[in-house]
Amino acid sequence: MNIRYLAPVLMTLLASTAFGEIRYVAAKKLFHLEAGAVSYVFGVNERNELQSVYWGKRLWRDDDLAAPRSDREWASFDNSGNTTPQEYPGWGGGRYIEPCLKVTLPDGVRDLVLKYVSHQIDGDTLKIELKDMTYDLGATLVYRVYPDTGVIRKNAVITNRTKAPLTLESAQSGAWNLPRGEGYRLTYLTGRWAGEWQINQEPIHPGMKVIESRRGNTGHQANPWFAIDEGGRAEEERGRVWFGALGWSGNWRLSIEQTSHQQVRVTGGFNPFDFSYPLAAGESLETPPFYAGFTDGGFGEASRILHRFERAYLLPGGLTSRQRPVLYNSWEATTFSVDEPGQTALAQKAAKLGVERFVMDDGWFGARNNDRAGLGDWTINPKKFPNGLGPLIESVNKLGMDFGLWVEPEMVNPDSDLYRAHPDWAMHFPDRPRTEARNQLVLNMARNDVRDHIFGVLDRLLAESPKLAFLKWDMNLNFSEPGWPEAAPADEKKLWIAYTRNVYEIIDRLRAKHPKLEIESCSGGGGRADMGILTRTEEVWTSDNTDAFDRLRIQEGFSYAYTPKTMMAWVTDVPNYNGRSTPLQYRFLVAMTGSLGIGGNLNKWSDADMSLAAKMVDLYKSIRKTVQEGRLYRLFSPRGDGFTATQYVSEDGRQAVLFAFRTGQHYGYPPPTVKLSGLEERAIYNVKTIDNKLVERLPAVSGAYLMNQGLNLRLGGDFDGTAVLFERQ
Ligand code: DGJ
Repeated sequence: MNIRYLAPVLMTLLASTAFGEIRYVAAKKLFHLEAGAVSYVFGVNERNELQSVYWGKRLWRDDDLAAPRSDREWASFDNSGNTTPQEYPGWGGGRYIEPCLKVTLPDGVRDLVLKYVSHQIDGDTLKIELKDMTYDLGATLVYRVYPDTGVIRKNAVITNRTKAPLTLESAQSGAWNLPRGEGYRLTYLTGRWAGEWQINQEPIHPGMKVIESRRGNTGHQANPWFAIDEGGRAEEERGRVWFGALGWSGNWRLSIEQTSHQQVRVTGGFNPFDFSYPLAAGESLETPPFYAGFTDGGFGEASRILHRFERAYLLPGGLTSRQRPVLYNSWEATTFSVDEPGQTALAQKAAKLGVERFVMDDGWFGARNNDRAGLGDWTINPKKFPNGLGPLIESVNKLGMDFGLWVEPEMVNPDSDLYRAHPDWAMHFPDRPRTEARNQLVLNMARNDVRDHIFGVLDRLLAESPKLAFLKWDMNLNFSEPGWPEAAPADEKKLWIAYTRNVYEIIDRLRAKHPKLEIESCSGGGGRADMGILTRTEEVWTSDNTDAFDRLRIQEGFSYAYTPKTMMAWVTDVPNYNGRSTPLQYRFLVAMTGSLGIGGNLNKWSDADMSLAAKMVDLYKSIRKTVQEGRLYRLFSPRGDGFTATQYVSEDGRQAVLFAFRTGQHYGYPPPTVKLSGLEERAIYNVKTIDNKLVERLPAVSGAYLMNQGLNLRLGGDFDGTAVLFERQ
């Protein structure tokens, strides 16, 4: 490295980042969680309750902090329990705010007042024991700080230490209290199938906004992520933003509440809807991890913090995990009509483009010739693959690619051998109709025999095909009739949690037994993307909508919460499902802003298409580390006026890449000048354009110029796109 760059790098390292510490300030009974650029402070007040004190930019001086004292009663209608911000309030003692825990105790008492008992600090983890004021119902709150990111994780383990069964009616992971005040704005992600990841922003007013899933999985309809900014004033690179996400792929809920005392708080955990969780004496329930962070650097920095956090601490393999290979997927090309010659022909073409992983999608098993039959029968279809998968995998490997397979293990077609043998394995209520969609039903994965069967099937598949490197794990139906007749009636609703736990367990066991296996999480596109599944899968199928123009918005929304490394994006054929056609280069560039895949029917691609595609794959490989593991700057949002630009800077600052897209134009105006971000003012960058669409002919230029004067692009027509590369000298 050039010596003149050492100083800023060292300064940055010293100034913030690797720092993380949990301190107990005994004199004031305060816990100070310091991480990265963030402080999170709470303490034990005079009533022995855990009271939130501060969350924001790092405070370095404990002397500045006062011991927590509860707020006064406002009137007979709002006792101090409602006016005092609390870390983990129970429902009881006259509190009307959203509780973290609500129970019916063994004798029918429904009043819970949690008090501090003890704590333990062990490196980056803090455990706090709470207990009801009289009953032996405990909650262990577990906090962990993640040094360089300032992200804090909290969750709770609720234990019935009484001698009799009790029932939990709401079990949340925790509550995040923001600095008291009004005028906050909420940002959250919603959507539907083929239209996931839409960004919504609205002012937070008194009352409660709920985003949730009642569908059994994470859901396309909302994602368990939030951001809240101060005064509704934060911008992409400016302003205070508090943000967080749940690590859970089952029913979840985030309640964003502004109390009548100007306290904004976000409570999150298991969805209390249709929730009833009996705890036998001695039994515990652990709530999902709830991660959160803070920045004064706007939404862009909030995303970059999360991207880095996910790569370092959530994704399998962490920072040492490999970059995502360029993938080919057969779905849009051949749908269910897969066979050995057809897939081999596609693989040969894919290899010519530089593809590194060939994935055969739906249709290879049982009687799966369409979506009406075969789901559940995970045996290779002998008509399509008379010699098993071996020869195809071997050809794919010989072509220099590894091989992956689509599975949808949690589902069954009623027209399948599995269903005929075990109709009771599908989720149902006795003597009631079972609601099918896409001709399928959900298996009750909460049952351990179903879990073990599915594990056995997948384990055998992997054992029989040791070269099987990758599974695309799909899930195309939400729960309906969520009955579990084999369970005791009082335990039936445990299905919501047991299902997800068993899915997690299968993945964990498979990965332990087949350590080289990689997995993509898919649920009809982006229906199962969250910080729980991301600890077990390398990537996510972002959306079944592969229209490049729609994808710009879909991928922008995704990038608010999740790293581009996990964001699978394919180049597919046009016209897309919606009738829109865009040029091949545009489609490639859009897909190259995430983890690149190709999903078109290569048999129909012209020589010119193939040669452009090979060039783009080559280009992607030269910038992949920067895109997948660098810092993302969203320069122009696709929600704006016909022009989108995103930029990535490698972690070491040596490479940057700009992607720019023009949707349409008016009156012949040029697109806006693009001012870059995240470069070094005094460094010189060699500039390389992929297709001479840069107005300025500057072979080398300073960071200061790029960030302040900016670049002009010659983008015309409709759906034009380009990329510009910058290498630091
Ligand atoms: C839904 C997925 O999102 C698609 O990519 C494809 O795998 C189909 N299922 C196959 O049935």
